[in-house]
Amino acid sequence: MDEPPVTEYAQAQEIIQFYLEPEEGTHNRWLMVRKSDHRSIGTCGFHKWDKRYFRAEIGYDVSPSFWGQGYMMEALRAVIASGFEHMRLNRIEALVYIENDRSIQLLRRLGFKQEGVLRDYFCLDGKFYDHYLFALLQREWKS
Ligand SMILES: CC(C)(COP(=O)(O)OP(=O)(O)OC[C@H]1O[C@@H](n2cnc3c(N)ncnc32)[C@H](O)[C@@H]1OP(=O)(O)O)[C@@H](O)C(=O)NCCC(=O)NCCS
Repeated sequence: MDEPPVTEYAQAQEIIQFYLEPEEGTHNRWLMVRKSDHRSIGTCGFHKWDKRYFRAEIGYDVSPSFWGQGYMMEALRAVIASGFEHMRLNRIEALVYIENDRSIQLLRRLGFKQEGVLRDYFCLDGKFYDHYLFALLQREWKS
């Protein structure tokens, strides 16, 4: 289970502010813009960047009307390459709700390996949800 869609303008502002906050340096998030018509179609980036251990968690979302066209695959290839090359990451982690098949498929296609199940990892409206832990290591990555 992931964060529910935002319904209030203030909630969106809060998320944008979080990713604009530069001093902490543990996260970034890029806006995805389609080349053909310059439409904003999604976001992707890293959070929980731990420089000491050369690892970070990857996050991403595409607006539903743009699903199934390979945009996130293309974007994540670039994001992952940047993580390994510029951020000097050794390990990129992804946490995904166990029923999020599209996201799991995408991670597997990118070479992420499933490492385990995090039981009751996320809580929404008083209900707990299991998540898979996936990871990709720098030495496994073929750009
Ligand atoms: C997870 C999510 C990003 C996946 O988006 P997506 O559009 O399915 O993923 P991709 O960009 O990899 O698209 C792959 C699909 O495009 C198709 N495709 C078309 N042209 C393609 C191309 N040139 N290259 C690759 N795939 C292409 C593939 O066949 C594949 O279709 P299929 O899944 O029906 O087999 C999206 O479902 C989403 O935003 N979900 C909500 C937020 C979320 O869950 N985030 C992740 C939390 S862990």
